[in-house]
Amino acid sequence: MAIGVFDSGVGGLTVHRELTQRFPDRNFIYLADQANAPYGGRNGEDIVNLTQAGCERLFEAGASLIILACNTASAIALRRLQQTWVPAARARHGRPLNVLGIIVPTIEAATGLPWTYEAERLGEKIEAIDVTGVFCTAATAMSRVYEIEIDKRREDLAVFSEPCPGLAGLIELGAPAEELKVVVNDHVDALRRRIGRQPDKAILGCTHYEIVADMFAAALPPGTPLIHQPTAVADALERYFARHPDYDLGQAGRREFLTTGKPGAQSGLVARFWGAPLTFNPT
Ligand code: DGL
Repeated sequence: MAIGVFDSGVGGLTVHRELTQRFPDRNFIYLADQANAPYGGRNGEDIVNLTQAGCERLFEAGASLIILACNTASAIALRRLQQTWVPAARARHGRPLNVLGIIVPTIEAATGLPWTYEAERLGEKIEAIDVTGVFCTAATAMSRVYEIEIDKRREDLAVFSEPCPGLAGLIELGAPAEELKVVVNDHVDALRRRIGRQPDKAILGCTHYEIVADMFAAALPPGTPLIHQPTAVADALERYFARHPDYDLGQAGRREFLTTGKPGAQSGLVARFWGAPLTFNPT
């Protein structure tokens, strides 16, 4: 058995890499739904159906716990799947199974508060507002998940999401650095103009963007803190494992990389990020 990591494409590798470093003995199966990437411009129903199909494939391949290493799938599909489909899959496969997302850990990291915390609204005037910018896909921005969930917990944090349509697709295709830098700079600039000043902090709210995190860091004012999802997810998973020792996640350190798209070597951009060439096998 194994931990499954799912994304529309190569973005989830950023989370996968951190998880394999944190839990080296566990077995991991990575599934990229590259036949249907990118997800960010799709409608909600499509995102739910594709995420469900990917999770089913991972359960069949031996995953017991799946991490949706995709903000778009976590924001749009996760709750729907957890309500009825996951319990039915558990009964069908006859073993403990679950699907977890990456937005809860990111909100915990962004607010410094546990997910279960609910702010008491005292109606007092807030003196200082800290602005967090979220770079994400169009679907994630439209869900307003970061605005809603952060606002529930921290009145002193204002959130502005900047949809970056096209960026995940370019990263998926392994576009040249010069082209990616122009797109990243344009979005950082657009967010600054919309807020009226630079953000105090930024969340890379699409796992693909972590591959070009250095470009975001260079485009933002020097020293702007970036909330990195891979670390936030690994920290949250460590806490989750302590509470739920019931999943069989394997112990052989096995690594499998599957794609619904064209199998074979991934782009030079991915190889540079990964530190070595990486080959995906067919599902
Ligand atoms: N990497 C995914 C995310 O975090 C999906 C990007 C896409 O497929 O548009 O949102």
